[in-house]
Amino acid sequence: MCGIIGYVGNKQANNILINGLLALEYRGYDSAGIATLENNEIKIMKDKGRVKNILDLDGYNELQGTYGIAHTRWATHGKPSQENSHPHMDNSNTFTVVHNGIIENYNELRSFLTDNGYTFYSQTDTEVIPNLIHYYFKNISKNTDINNTDKILEAVVKATNDLKGSYAIEVISPLMPDTIIVARKDSPLVIGTKSDENFIASDIPALLTYTKDFYLLDDNEFAVITKDSISFYNKDLENYTKEIKNIEWDASSAEKNGYEDFMLKEIFEQPNSVRETIGSRLKLNESCNFDDLQITSEYLKSINKIFIVACGTAMHAGLVGKILLEKLCKIPTEVDIASEFRYRDPIIDDKTLCIYVSQSGETADTIAALKLAKSKGAKTLAISNVIGSSITREADYTIYTHAGPEIAVASTKAYTSQVVLFAVLAIHFSELLGYDNADITINSDGQTIKLDNIKKDILDLPKKISMILEDTSLIKKFADEAYTQKDMFFLGRGVDQTVALEGSLKLKEISYIHSEAYASGELKHGPIALIENGIHVISILTDPSLAKKSISNIQEVITRGAKTMVITNQDLENTNFDYIYKIPETNPLISPILSVIPLQLLAYYISKNKGLDVDKPRNLAKSVTVE
Ligand code: G6P
Repeated sequence: MCGIIGYVGNKQANNILINGLLALEYRGYDSAGIATLENNEIKIMKDKGRVKNILDLDGYNELQGTYGIAHTRWATHGKPSQENSHPHMDNSNTFTVVHNGIIENYNELRSFLTDNGYTFYSQTDTEVIPNLIHYYFKNISKNTDINNTDKILEAVVKATNDLKGSYAIEVISPLMPDTIIVARKDSPLVIGTKSDENFIASDIPALLTYTKDFYLLDDNEFAVITKDSISFYNKDLENYTKEIKNIEWDASSAEKNGYEDFMLKEIFEQPNSVRETIGSRLKLNESCNFDDLQITSEYLKSINKIFIVACGTAMHAGLVGKILLEKLCKIPTEVDIASEFRYRDPIIDDKTLCIYVSQSGETADTIAALKLAKSKGAKTLAISNVIGSSITREADYTIYTHAGPEIAVASTKAYTSQVVLFAVLAIHFSELLGYDNADITINSDGQTIKLDNIKKDILDLPKKISMILEDTSLIKKFADEAYTQKDMFFLGRGVDQTVALEGSLKLKEISYIHSEAYASGELKHGPIALIENGIHVISILTDPSLAKKSISNIQEVITRGAKTMVITNQDLENTNFDYIYKIPETNPLISPILSVIPLQLLAYYISKNKGLDVDKPRNLAKSVTVE
């Protein structure tokens, strides 16, 4: 989704702005633009297409301004085009604005402004913002006792009061040299700070090469930023200070480090990211240590329901979370898609714990779903990868995955970290509930284990992920054969079905091949009609108690001509499967952390074979900040 960058300092702003936009490219966009200000004149360069196209625009190299704003646009209102690209100006060319988010009442505001003599040149919702600022500024400006920056700030506050929807905005004007005003509501915006220069961005990784010190702007906050000062204001124009957050992420972890693509790098980072997620939270023969989570056993004993709410891959991690929480804690758990949950009036009260999973912590639907649960009296727990992200500031409790920055649009290491965090969290809750010594039934054969067995299996995961990543040749071979396919199927039972969903999503996202994921037992109820000669079917089989049933289902597709690959930790000898991909054995409750890896690689290699942009697939965005 749209990305925002800003710079004010002593250096030439153009290249800093472009580098910032390049760092935000992963969010997804279809046009880009920058504005700098020099000699009281605003210079705007913008066009549809890639950020690097701006470098070729006439005059780019001559831009001398030492401050400016920049934007990547993911089209919502109006097609990708030069006139719809940001920055946008008001009719008098006094205020230049970039905006991330959606102004829901832009039609009304447009009519109001048109009635007041304003003209619009784009189809965007954004163009109302600079004109509204101008509208308010005209009246305030009659008062000569106030300086221009204060007047503009007041006009920005008044203009945002009229906006319905979400926004993160930056405003520059020749009337306030060397100054940028920013504001946010329900769209992300961070300010990176350093001596003699300040930076603005939609997310922290975009600025890590410049600074590790950040201010995280909250909803309905405003900041006036110069090269050596940052002043914060609320809607009543009261000035206050905010705490700086020091971010420990390494800038190199947001770079490719020799890998061809971020996605491949992130797949190969999983032994380490999973290790980081486990961190010091889990040790053998000790109770879990969640000193960052203040949930008490009294509270846990008082609840009778858990909701896990998320979107996309994070929702698939939630499906495994449900199995873990129900098995280990015996609390009924439901998983819901955030965009559905928020509008379906779910039954929630103070006996419900709602867990929200979001890598970015900025997904609009997930945040709205969290606010809804809070308003109904439930406690909310956020699982996020991004320190200080919006969701973590809304939730009652937060735990971080600590997977490091994930840049590729298709989520990989965030998923495995979310699943492992659910496993450790379920153990922690189980201990708080007093089930430390209980027998845990892990499969349909009634096999039981103790918590310590799961702890050991979790601690072994990083090593086992490394084993899978040591040899990817069989997956490459299957990808070489399968990449010309138009449709594919993913099958599994129990926890394996949740992985089938994630494998299918990965394939769709980056290879544009249509695929379906089904519970193997459901195949006969319709989808088997689509199985024909040569179709590729991938099955996941990690639960020994369901192996026989799953194998029968695979035979049904082979009989109808399917080519099969089975991802399994079982010894499947003398079978007629075309490919068997062996993964290390582990407890079925956490097997998705291993079985998903070949599926991530499969989607990756197929996408590469098709010559596609793996990290920035068409139409998709990393951070879906609009609903
Ligand atoms: C987008 C991304 C997915 C991600 C989903 C949820 O669709 O492309 O990779 O799973 O959003 O994102 P979140 O940041 O909330 O986990």
